[in-house]
Amino acid sequence: MQINTLILGAGAAGMMAAAHAGPGVLVVDHAKAAGEKIRISGGGRCNFTNTGTTPAQFLCQNPHFAKSALSRYTHWDFISLVSEYGIAWHEKTLGQLFCDNSAKDIIAMLHAEMDKAGAQLWIKTDVGDISHDGTRFRVTLTRDGKQTQVTANNLIVATGGKSIPKMGATGLAYQIASQFGIEVITPRPGLVPLTFSDDKFKPLAGVATPIRVTTGDTSFEEAMLFTHRGLSGPAVLQISSYWQEGERITVNLIPGANLLDDLKETRRTAGRKALSNILSMHLPGRLVDFLKDDLNLQGNIADQSDAQLQTLCDALSTWPLQPAGSEGYRTAEVTLGGINTDELSSKTMEAKSVPGLYFIGESVDVTGWLGGYNFQWAWSSGWVAGTAI
Ligand code: FDA
Repeated sequence: MQINTLILGAGAAGMMAAAHAGPGVLVVDHAKAAGEKIRISGGGRCNFTNTGTTPAQFLCQNPHFAKSALSRYTHWDFISLVSEYGIAWHEKTLGQLFCDNSAKDIIAMLHAEMDKAGAQLWIKTDVGDISHDGTRFRVTLTRDGKQTQVTANNLIVATGGKSIPKMGATGLAYQIASQFGIEVITPRPGLVPLTFSDDKFKPLAGVATPIRVTTGDTSFEEAMLFTHRGLSGPAVLQISSYWQEGERITVNLIPGANLLDDLKETRRTAGRKALSNILSMHLPGRLVDFLKDDLNLQGNIADQSDAQLQTLCDALSTWPLQPAGSEGYRTAEVTLGGINTDELSSKTMEAKSVPGLYFIGESVDVTGWLGGYNFQWAWSSGWVAGTAI
């Protein structure tokens, strides 16, 4: 079978590229349906983009690389497409856009776009040997136990990263890259809950509180959730992409509050109240109980000197924590690292050393923050590769 473009992976990036790559496109995926991660994303409502998208919300060894694709196919372009299809959406917080109804609306839209472009889709299809004779790619595909040799002028690799193997993630893109001598930056889980060695937060499982969390020069101010295994919630997922094994994180449990002034005022007006009870008005009660011994939360607030209150506030705003690791690819929303962007054209995503070979989406060393940025990267990188063909 001879075609113009073979796309491996019918996820967000692959479907977007298929809709724009012109005639003679076949998209293949080993999953039972296209866009499985879209279907489960955003709690089933798909946080499909972010109105504040700029290159600053992406991690990449070359911070300039994502600029071109993000500016050529912007979040406004995707919002227009969604609106064209009459898909109702709403903004939650921090510019995050979600479908009103279901993530399935986005998948249906991408199917419609692929149909409009005449792209063929094969699901439940395994990808076998890949070779290149200098001009064309030859790929062995197996569907329903039947092998097909496909010859294509262009090969777009859109098989994503390693996150959530249960959903079909395989790391195939990295194998293809290494076959063609293209460098891969060591992949690692991102947007992932952090774990702690001694189950120390088990008694707090289920407690959520707003925090500011910092590692190195990077901070996020959002909610944190204690789990049976450690810490999660948006703030922790965000910082996990910046955290390196062995490093500490610092948690400010009282971000934005002037707790010291509040405590001094309470000491003046209600000095007989227990310090721990007062603190429970500012923090979840179970967290205060948990911290009681470490912070020596004893006696009435009237017993506390200015210096003691200051020490308490300092401790609450600079709680040092040493994660043992992360929950890994099993629950990570994304994979950091991937195809080194030095190997790709930022305008087209084509490999510099292998004409006709493209890498898009999560397979590439471009990883967004939580909040719709990763889908925007999939749309933008898929669009630039598709329209380049
Ligand atoms: P994606 O992983 O979507 O697609 C890759 C495709 O390749 C899959 O269909 C897979 O089956 C196929 N494939 C892999 N290996 C193969 C092989 N060997 N042979 C054949 N096919 C193969 N982002 C965001 O912006 N907003 C959100 O709300 C969310 N929510 C979210 C929730 C959860 C639970 C997860 C895990 C992730 C998110 N994300 C997200 C991240 C987002 O889903 C992710 O960044 C994009 O799906 C990446 O798109 P790609 O097309 O690059 O890969």
